[in-house]
Amino acid sequence: MAVAALDLMKSRRSVRRFKPDLPGRGLIEKLIEAAVTAPSASNKQPWRFLVVTSRPAVSRMADAVREAVERVSKHVEAGWRDAFRDYGDYFTRFESAPVVIVPLYRGLELLSNMTGPSLPQADRRRIVALEAGSGLVSVSLAIQNLLLMAHSLGLGASAMTGPLIALDKVRAILEVPGSWDVAAVIPVGFPAEEPPPISRKSAEQVTRWIE
Ligand SMILES: Cc1cc2nc3c(=O)[nH]c(=O)nc-3n(C[C@H](O)[C@H](O)[C@H](O)COP(=O)(O)O)c2cc1C
Repeated sequence: MAVAALDLMKSRRSVRRFKPDLPGRGLIEKLIEAAVTAPSASNKQPWRFLVVTSRPAVSRMADAVREAVERVSKHVEAGWRDAFRDYGDYFTRFESAPVVIVPLYRGLELLSNMTGPSLPQADRRRIVALEAGSGLVSVSLAIQNLLLMAHSLGLGASAMTGPLIALDKVRAILEVPGSWDVAAVIPVGFPAEEPPPISRKSAEQVTRWIE
């Protein structure tokens, strides 16, 4: 079982090109079902999932991202501008997906609600940061579940934060309530590409044992 899980993780790739066929609703529901099994801080499950199949909404999001990339590119040093535009090209790779899932999250407000004004500022800052971070970590775990589930079902997907360069417009297009933040944009569909394996740092390279 452990090997099967590792194989699934190792064979998952970010897919950015999709066939036009719309995956059935049951498949998409399975992705969300997998997502919501993720652990979350204090089991608050601080996530919501917008499932966008509206072509006009996806196109408007992509247009907004292109506009933002263009706007920002004017402030990128001349020598970097082309590289930035190439990079920005990856921010709209959700455009051809028949389904775009947009996970939302919100920070926790547990400790900050329990503590009074006498709490030293440094402690308050740390608590605020850990509560905000806990929401994002929780939804990130849910996203990885979703990506792995997609892979296991023969769907392609990719988690993208580049589109958040146009966060204000994305929020407006999707009518995201003010109390929620957008974690990422996840194109989903049947893959029209099979990305080759890509390198990873070895576990040894990124591990420090403190014994
Ligand atoms: C937080 C995060 C943000 C990402 N944003 C984008 C993005 O905006 N556009 C994109 O094409 N890929 C994006 N990716 C996908 C990464 O480029 C990809 O995961 C990485 O190159 C490793 O490739 P793999 O997922 O195929 O293993 C993002 C991945 C993560 C985890």
